[in-house]
Amino acid sequence: MFELTGRIALVSGAGQSVGEGIATVLARQGAAVIVNDLFGERAERVAAQIVAEGNTAIAKAFDVTDYEATVAAVRAAEAELGGQVNILVNNAGVAQTRVIKPFRELTPDQWPPSIDLNIYGAMNCVKAVLDGMCDSGWGRIVQISSGSARTGQNINYSMYATGKSGIEGFIRHLAAETGQYGVTANIVALGQQANLAEKMTPEMIDKIITTIPIGRLGDPIEVGAFCAYLASNESGGMTGQTLDFNGGSQTR
Ligand SMILES: NC(=O)c1ccc[n+]([C@@H]2O[C@H](COP(=O)([O-])OP(=O)(O)OC[C@H]3O[C@@H](n4cnc5c(N)ncnc54)[C@H](O)[C@@H]3O)[C@@H](O)[C@H]2O)c1
Repeated sequence: MFELTGRIALVSGAGQSVGEGIATVLARQGAAVIVNDLFGERAERVAAQIVAEGNTAIAKAFDVTDYEATVAAVRAAEAELGGQVNILVNNAGVAQTRVIKPFRELTPDQWPPSIDLNIYGAMNCVKAVLDGMCDSGWGRIVQISSGSARTGQNINYSMYATGKSGIEGFIRHLAAETGQYGVTANIVALGQQANLAEKMTPEMIDKIITTIPIGRLGDPIEVGAFCAYLASNESGGMTGQTLDFNGGSQTR
């Protein structure tokens, strides 16, 4: 079950945190993983760690918001691995240059980073691999999103939520267009993950945890396991869905 041997997976933004967990698990299930990140050293570290476990990975540093760079890197990785990408996990979604402020305080030049990364970055990766998936009759696309896409929150995340809800709409239409080719596309809407603890005080984390029924933050390896299911043959009957993976949080 959930065997990925013989598959080639591209995981964007996989140089740390959630993407690292996803790349690690896909490789443990047998996929050859292209570990992408904006920062070469992050991608190299994760790829080396996967190889040290006895699995297959290569690092490819590129900016997913740059279409030409994305296509060139994907073609180069495919040549190196000797096959086409047939699993894509669009994980990169936290823009380096995003400005976290209430919308009233944002100026129009500060709107694009989260929207560009979450919408165009994800679309660029899809475009780079979609023909190969459709022509071969098999493909799996997993879009990492957030509960913020569907729930208003007073946490200065309006641009991030705009990007996430935009890409969710795209993925639903993509799923409708590509099901006939054996290509599925699903959305995983995450709740707060373990790396939040690096950004907040223990008191803030304790408060957040009271809103999460399982009583803890998310674990990237568990997210990876869910992505492995969505990337597998066995998930072929599910497409176009938004699946909450948030510890049961009602606030999303
Ligand atoms: N961490 C959470 O609590 C949480 C909650 C909900 C949803 N998510 C989603 O999960 C995904 C991963 O989040 P995370 O917290 O692990 O992020 P992170 O910031 O810890 O790691 C993301 C990685 O993406 C890379 N990256 C950023 N811009 C890129 C670009 N243009 N091209 C290629 N790589 C790029 C970064 O260098 C970084 O290494 C995101 O889509 C995020 O929106 C996270």
